[in-house]
Amino acid sequence: MRKSRKREHVENYLKTSFKGNNLFDDIFLEHNALPDLNFSEIDTRMEFLDKTIDYPIIINAMTGGTEFAGEINRELSLLAKNFNIPMAVGSETILLCEDDACKDSFKIVRENIGDEGVVIANLSGHASVDDARIALEVIDGDAIQIHLNVAQELAMDEGDRDFKGVIDNIEAIVKGIDKPVIVKEVGFGISKEAGQRLYDIGVRYIDISGFGGTNFMEIENLRNMNIDLTELYSWGLPSAYSLIKCREVADDLKLISSGGIKTALEVVKSVVLGAELAGISGEILAYLVHGGYENAKEYLDDLTYKIKMIMLLMGKKNIEELKKSDYKITGKLKELL
Ligand SMILES: Cc1cc2nc3c(=O)[nH]c(=O)nc-3n(C[C@H](O)[C@H](O)[C@H](O)COP(=O)(O)O)c2cc1C
Repeated sequence: MRKSRKREHVENYLKTSFKGNNLFDDIFLEHNALPDLNFSEIDTRMEFLDKTIDYPIIINAMTGGTEFAGEINRELSLLAKNFNIPMAVGSETILLCEDDACKDSFKIVRENIGDEGVVIANLSGHASVDDARIALEVIDGDAIQIHLNVAQELAMDEGDRDFKGVIDNIEAIVKGIDKPVIVKEVGFGISKEAGQRLYDIGVRYIDISGFGGTNFMEIENLRNMNIDLTELYSWGLPSAYSLIKCREVADDLKLISSGGIKTALEVVKSVVLGAELAGISGEILAYLVHGGYENAKEYLDDLTYKIKMIMLLMGKKNIEELKKSDYKITGKLKELL
């Protein structure tokens, strides 16, 4: 059951047609006509989880647990290695109840990335401390993501209906393991209030994963013909909004910006708004499935080149300088805020 669901998520993601707006278009960055920089000086390297990475990008959680998923993870991890960027594996819940063979589809990620790179484990908010230890151990994870996916579960016929106690559970994981815990959404965003509650129990990393990209309401609706969820395809906090609101929680809260991130401009805007990294899932998957490794590599080649281009156009030499940039908020985002 879980195995076929994994494949359907990938296949149905590629079938979705609803176009959400993450509202990053409403962030305006200023052009600098006098940057006094040489392109070769632009430095996008930074520290993340005590390792040096080359760009403020993460290939975000998607899959694992089957042969098909293992093949995707193999190629995603080769991309992560090539660009020296972090990668999170998909939910490892499947390996807690399935045969040993499914472990390999996750292990391949660490094998390809090596010790120098950042690999992140992934489990649901119902996981126990022991589950978290196993999930980390299998991939020698640098951190673990705990995903919150209430909307996705409700859209699934066989999904959870009981969300009580998740916050206590996350608190136990934060206290029970010695690696950073990144709490993330899966495309519906995290409000300031939810971010504050997570911060108060000791969470110091949040991936806001907002609305405007991968849409699990639609993905699950394509699997569940018993109900028409079309009216809820627009449900969720747009990523730019969620990022700005969670940034208000605390200065030492590290944020990852994700949800519909496709372009270099969205990556740069994420950093300007106070994110450590921008997470990309669906867009990389689409390039990979439609045109293979080389196609996805070309997408990331262009993206990383354009990040440097935009930094030069803003007169920012490195990520530290970029973080201090001014920005203006326009349109619907301004209205919402
Ligand atoms: C096919 C697919 C499978 C996913 N599986 C997981 C998962 O297992 N765990 C998780 O935390 N997020 C999962 N996600 C959500 C992504 O990590 C991310 O939060 C979300 O897709 C929004 O980013 P995007 O718009 O760049 O795709 C999945 C996304 C896709 C497209």
